[in-house]
Amino acid sequence: MILRKKLIAGNWKMNKTSADSVTLVKEIAQQIGRQTEVDVLVCPPATALESVGRTLEGANIKLGAQNMHFEASGAFTGEISAPMLRDLFVTHVILGHSERRALFGEDDQLINQKVLSALKTELRPVLCVGESLEEREAGDTLKVVQTQLEAGLAGVSNEQAASVILAYEPVWAIGTGKVATSDQAQEVHAFIRELLTKLFGETIAQKVRILYGGSMKPSNADELLAQTDIDGGLIGGAALEARSFVDLVKAAAKS
Ligand code: PGA
Repeated sequence: MILRKKLIAGNWKMNKTSADSVTLVKEIAQQIGRQTEVDVLVCPPATALESVGRTLEGANIKLGAQNMHFEASGAFTGEISAPMLRDLFVTHVILGHSERRALFGEDDQLINQKVLSALKTELRPVLCVGESLEEREAGDTLKVVQTQLEAGLAGVSNEQAASVILAYEPVWAIGTGKVATSDQAQEVHAFIRELLTKLFGETIAQKVRILYGGSMKPSNADELLAQTDIDGGLIGGAALEARSFVDLVKAAAKS
Protein backbone atom coordinates (compact mmCIF):
# COMPACT_ATOMS: atom_id res chain seq x y z
CA MET A 1 0.00 0.00 0.00
CA ILE A 2 1.26 3.44 -0.89
CA LEU A 3 1.16 5.96 1.94
CA ARG A 4 -0.01 9.30 0.66
CA LYS A 5 1.36 12.28 2.57
CA LYS A 6 -1.54 14.38 3.80
CA LEU A 7 -1.93 17.90 2.42
CA ILE A 8 -3.63 20.79 4.20
CA ALA A 9 -4.32 23.67 1.81
CA GLY A 10 -5.73 27.09 2.69
CA ASN A 11 -7.92 28.85 0.15
CA TRP A 12 -8.04 32.44 1.39
CA LYS A 13 -10.44 33.51 -1.39
CA MET A 14 -10.88 37.30 -1.71
CA ASN A 15 -9.64 38.06 1.81
CA LYS A 16 -6.63 39.89 3.22
CA THR A 17 -4.41 42.64 1.89
CA SER A 18 -0.81 41.92 1.14
CA ALA A 19 0.24 43.15 4.62
CA ASP A 20 -2.47 41.09 6.37
CA SER A 21 -1.46 38.06 4.35
CA VAL A 22 2.16 38.38 5.46
CA THR A 23 1.05 38.64 9.10
CA LEU A 24 -1.07 35.50 8.80
CA VAL A 25 1.52 33.43 7.02
CA LYS A 26 4.21 34.44 9.53
CA GLU A 27 1.99 33.24 12.36
CA ILE A 28 1.27 29.99 10.54
CA ALA A 29 4.96 29.38 9.79
CA GLN A 30 5.94 30.11 13.37
CA GLN A 31 3.31 27.83 14.89
CA ILE A 32 3.91 24.98 12.47
CA GLY A 33 7.66 25.03 12.93
CA ARG A 34 9.71 22.66 10.86
CA GLN A 35 7.29 19.77 10.70
CA THR A 36 7.53 17.59 7.61
CA GLU A 37 4.78 15.03 8.30
CA VAL A 38 2.15 17.04 6.42
CA ASP A 39 2.42 19.10 3.24
CA VAL A 40 1.09 22.61 3.80
CA LEU A 41 -0.11 24.97 1.07
CA VAL A 42 -1.43 28.52 1.32
CA CYS A 43 -3.34 30.21 -1.51
CA PRO A 44 -3.58 33.95 -0.81
CA PRO A 45 -5.17 36.40 -3.25
CA ALA A 46 -3.03 37.21 -6.31
CA THR A 47 -2.07 40.63 -4.91
CA ALA A 48 -0.35 38.94 -1.95
CA LEU A 49 1.49 36.15 -3.79
CA GLU A 50 4.75 38.03 -4.06
CA SER A 51 4.90 39.25 -0.45
CA VAL A 52 3.80 35.89 0.94
CA GLY A 53 6.29 34.10 -1.32
CA ARG A 54 9.11 36.25 0.06
CA THR A 55 7.98 35.63 3.63
CA LEU A 56 7.92 31.89 3.01
CA GLU A 57 11.51 31.67 1.73
CA GLY A 58 13.10 28.76 3.55
CA ALA A 59 9.83 27.73 5.22
CA ASN A 60 8.28 24.36 4.54
CA ILE A 61 5.03 25.84 3.23
CA LYS A 62 4.06 25.88 -0.43
CA LEU A 63 2.50 28.79 -2.30
CA GLY A 64 -0.56 28.45 -4.50
CA ALA A 65 -2.77 30.71 -6.61
CA GLN A 66 -6.57 30.56 -6.68
CA ASN A 67 -7.04 30.81 -10.43
CA MET A 68 -5.22 31.56 -13.70
CA HIS A 69 -5.81 32.01 -17.43
CA PHE A 70 -4.88 29.18 -19.77
CA GLU A 71 -2.93 31.32 -22.22
CA ALA A 72 0.65 32.29 -21.41
CA SER A 73 0.21 35.96 -22.41
CA GLY A 74 -1.91 38.20 -24.58
CA ALA A 75 -4.90 40.55 -24.68
CA PHE A 76 -6.80 39.17 -21.68
CA THR A 77 -7.46 42.18 -19.50
CA GLY A 78 -7.43 41.42 -15.80
CA GLU A 79 -6.06 37.90 -16.16
CA ILE A 80 -2.91 36.23 -14.84
CA SER A 81 -1.04 33.39 -16.59
CA ALA A 82 0.80 30.29 -15.44
CA PRO A 83 4.28 31.63 -16.34
CA MET A 84 3.51 34.80 -14.33
CA LEU A 85 2.66 32.65 -11.33
CA ARG A 86 5.79 30.54 -11.76
CA ASP A 87 7.80 33.75 -11.79
CA LEU A 88 6.52 34.44 -8.24
CA PHE A 89 7.59 30.95 -7.07
CA VAL A 90 4.02 29.72 -7.04
CA THR A 91 3.94 25.91 -7.26
CA HIS A 92 0.20 25.10 -7.11
CA VAL A 93 -3.01 26.55 -8.52
CA ILE A 94 -6.61 25.91 -7.50
CA LEU A 95 -8.71 25.32 -10.62
CA GLY A 96 -12.42 24.80 -11.12
CA HIS A 97 -13.45 25.95 -7.67
CA SER A 98 -17.25 25.91 -7.43
CA GLU A 99 -17.27 29.69 -6.94
CA ARG A 100 -15.45 30.07 -10.27
CA ARG A 101 -17.92 27.68 -11.87
CA ALA A 102 -21.07 29.25 -10.40
CA LEU A 103 -20.20 32.96 -10.21
CA PHE A 104 -17.82 33.35 -13.15
CA GLY A 105 -19.32 30.91 -15.63
CA GLU A 106 -16.36 28.54 -15.83
CA ASP A 107 -17.29 25.30 -17.54
CA ASP A 108 -15.51 21.96 -17.69
CA GLN A 109 -13.92 22.73 -21.04
CA LEU A 110 -12.38 26.00 -19.85
CA ILE A 111 -11.21 24.36 -16.64
CA ASN A 112 -9.61 21.59 -18.67
CA GLN A 113 -7.67 24.16 -20.73
CA LYS A 114 -6.42 25.67 -17.47
CA VAL A 115 -5.43 22.25 -16.09
CA LEU A 116 -3.42 21.47 -19.24
CA SER A 117 -1.77 24.88 -19.21
CA ALA A 118 -0.83 24.56 -15.53
CA LEU A 119 0.71 21.12 -16.08
CA LYS A 120 2.64 22.33 -19.12
CA THR A 121 4.11 25.11 -16.99
CA GLU A 122 4.89 22.73 -14.12
CA LEU A 123 2.28 24.14 -11.78
CA ARG A 124 0.36 21.50 -9.82
CA PRO A 125 -3.38 21.94 -10.33
CA VAL A 126 -5.72 21.46 -7.38
CA LEU A 127 -8.77 20.53 -9.43
CA CYS A 128 -12.05 20.97 -7.55
CA VAL A 129 -15.17 18.93 -8.24
CA GLY A 130 -18.45 18.62 -6.39
CA GLU A 131 -22.21 18.52 -6.63
CA SER A 132 -24.82 21.10 -5.66
CA LEU A 133 -27.54 20.35 -3.10
CA GLU A 134 -30.07 19.90 -5.91
CA GLU A 135 -27.82 17.41 -7.65
CA ARG A 136 -27.25 15.46 -4.43
CA GLU A 137 -30.96 15.35 -3.67
CA ALA A 138 -31.67 14.12 -7.21
CA GLY A 139 -29.19 11.26 -6.63
CA ASP A 140 -26.79 12.64 -9.24
CA THR A 141 -23.71 13.16 -7.05
CA LEU A 142 -21.47 10.50 -8.58
CA LYS A 143 -22.56 11.31 -12.13
CA VAL A 144 -21.76 15.02 -11.65
CA VAL A 145 -18.39 14.26 -10.08
CA GLN A 146 -17.54 11.82 -12.88
CA THR A 147 -18.40 14.34 -15.60
CA GLN A 148 -16.38 17.12 -13.96
CA LEU A 149 -13.43 14.84 -13.34
CA GLU A 150 -13.28 13.23 -16.79
CA ALA A 151 -13.76 16.55 -18.58
CA GLY A 152 -11.33 18.40 -16.30
CA LEU A 153 -8.60 15.81 -16.83
CA ALA A 154 -9.13 15.24 -20.57
CA GLY A 155 -5.81 15.04 -22.41
CA VAL A 156 -3.75 14.72 -19.20
CA SER A 157 -1.02 12.11 -19.64
CA ASN A 158 -0.31 9.41 -17.07
CA GLU A 159 2.93 11.12 -16.19
CA GLN A 160 1.19 14.47 -15.66
CA ALA A 161 -1.66 12.89 -13.69
CA ALA A 162 0.77 11.97 -10.91
CA SER A 163 1.20 15.65 -10.06
CA VAL A 164 -2.49 16.53 -10.06
CA ILE A 165 -4.25 17.09 -6.73
CA LEU A 166 -8.01 16.70 -6.56
CA ALA A 167 -10.46 18.29 -4.16
CA TYR A 168 -13.94 16.96 -3.58
CA GLU A 169 -16.00 19.92 -2.41
CA PRO A 170 -19.75 19.41 -2.15
CA VAL A 171 -21.09 22.85 -3.04
CA TRP A 172 -23.72 22.69 -0.27
CA ALA A 173 -20.95 22.32 2.33
CA ILE A 174 -18.83 25.29 1.25
CA GLY A 175 -18.96 28.18 3.69
CA THR A 176 -22.27 26.90 5.08
CA GLY A 177 -21.11 25.14 8.24
CA LYS A 178 -22.77 21.97 6.86
CA VAL A 179 -20.00 19.43 6.58
CA ALA A 180 -20.42 16.19 4.65
CA THR A 181 -20.46 13.17 6.97
CA SER A 182 -17.30 11.12 6.80
CA ASP A 183 -19.30 8.34 5.10
CA GLN A 184 -20.70 10.70 2.46
CA ALA A 185 -17.23 12.08 1.77
CA GLN A 186 -15.47 8.69 1.75
CA GLU A 187 -18.03 7.30 -0.71
CA VAL A 188 -17.23 10.03 -3.23
CA HIS A 189 -13.48 9.91 -2.58
CA ALA A 190 -13.42 6.14 -3.16
CA PHE A 191 -15.43 6.65 -6.35
CA ILE A 192 -12.94 9.28 -7.54
CA ARG A 193 -10.04 6.90 -6.87
CA GLU A 194 -11.79 4.19 -8.85
CA LEU A 195 -12.22 6.60 -11.75
CA LEU A 196 -8.56 7.56 -11.54
CA THR A 197 -7.66 3.87 -11.70
CA LYS A 198 -9.69 3.52 -14.90
CA LEU A 199 -8.17 6.66 -16.42
CA PHE A 200 -4.52 6.37 -15.36
CA GLY A 201 -3.98 2.94 -13.81
CA GLU A 202 -3.68 1.67 -10.27
CA THR A 203 -0.22 3.02 -9.43
CA ILE A 204 -1.06 6.61 -10.28
CA ALA A 205 -4.53 6.42 -8.74
CA GLN A 206 -2.94 5.31 -5.47
CA LYS A 207 -0.52 8.24 -5.55
CA VAL A 208 -2.92 11.10 -6.30
CA ARG A 209 -4.14 13.00 -3.27
CA ILE A 210 -7.84 13.70 -2.96
CA LEU A 211 -8.66 16.51 -0.53
CA TYR A 212 -12.01 17.11 1.10
CA GLY A 213 -13.31 20.70 1.18
CA GLY A 214 -16.43 22.24 2.68
CA SER A 215 -16.70 23.62 6.23
CA MET A 216 -13.75 21.55 7.42
CA LYS A 217 -12.49 22.74 10.80
CA PRO A 218 -10.57 21.35 13.77
CA SER A 219 -13.76 20.01 15.40
CA ASN A 220 -14.75 17.80 12.45
CA ALA A 221 -11.37 17.09 10.85
CA ASP A 222 -10.33 13.96 12.75
CA GLU A 223 -13.15 11.83 11.46
CA LEU A 224 -12.81 13.05 7.87
CA LEU A 225 -9.03 12.64 7.82
CA ALA A 226 -9.33 9.10 9.20
CA GLN A 227 -11.08 7.94 6.01
CA THR A 228 -9.03 5.73 3.68
CA ASP A 229 -9.36 7.96 0.63
CA ILE A 230 -9.33 11.41 2.24
CA ASP A 231 -5.79 12.73 1.91
CA GLY A 232 -6.16 16.17 3.39
CA GLY A 233 -8.31 19.26 3.23
CA LEU A 234 -8.94 22.36 1.15
CA ILE A 235 -9.86 24.87 3.80
CA GLY A 236 -11.68 28.18 3.34
CA GLY A 237 -13.01 29.89 6.48
CA ALA A 238 -10.80 28.02 8.94
CA ALA A 239 -7.69 28.94 6.93
CA LEU A 240 -8.07 32.64 7.69
CA GLU A 241 -6.87 32.27 11.26
CA ALA A 242 -3.50 30.80 12.15
CA ARG A 243 -4.81 28.87 15.17
CA SER A 244 -7.51 26.87 13.34
CA PHE A 245 -5.36 26.30 10.25
CA VAL A 246 -2.44 25.04 12.33
CA ASP A 247 -4.80 22.81 14.34
CA LEU A 248 -5.88 21.25 11.04
CA VAL A 249 -2.25 20.62 10.13
CA LYS A 250 -1.80 18.94 13.53
CA ALA A 251 -4.94 16.87 13.02
CA ALA A 252 -3.57 15.69 9.67
CA ALA A 253 -0.21 14.86 11.26
CA LYS A 254 -1.76 12.48 13.76
CA SER A 255 -4.29 10.92 11.38
P1 PGA B 1 -15.01 26.54 3.52
O1 PGA B 1 -14.48 26.68 2.00
O2 PGA B 1 -13.95 25.76 4.27
O3 PGA B 1 -15.14 27.95 4.03
O4 PGA B 1 -16.29 25.80 3.46
C1 PGA B 1 -13.84 25.63 1.36
C2 PGA B 1 -13.51 26.03 -0.07
O5 PGA B 1 -14.29 26.76 -0.69
O6 PGA B 1 -12.46 25.61 -0.62
